[in-house]
Amino acid sequence: MAAFTHHLFICTNERAADDPRGCCAGRGGLEVASAFKRAIHERGLKRIVRANKAGCLDQCAAGATLVVYPGGVWYGRVEVEDVEEIVEQHLIGGRPVERLVLPPEALTGIDPDAPPPPDEVSFSR
Ligand code: FES
Repeated sequence: MAAFTHHLFICTNERAADDPRGCCAGRGGLEVASAFKRAIHERGLKRIVRANKAGCLDQCAAGATLVVYPGGVWYGRVEVEDVEEIVEQHLIGGRPVERLVLPPEALTGIDPDAPPPPDEVSFSR
């Protein structure tokens, strides 16, 4: 089984042009995903970093969006020109690119009354 140091999910979802939320495909999501795949390959990281195209991540208004694990770091308004910086600074250097990080309060899907998520997830077999 492959063990990746990082796993990226990059939204490439497309919606109708008149949808008020817009969509990541309409904001360059496919091009961003391709740029990540290319950059990861060029740096010899493809065995340890996985970049997957994803469907809607429910952060549509902030597209193009992606999330990086571990850490669950969300990025928004990412353009092709930002990809090298994310690869260099975050995936290699371990420091998220703060100017593109979506803060928790900007994310949809968070229930303010829910308990905080566990720091670790354990699996039993
Ligand atoms: S269309 Fe990309 S997050 Fe919804």
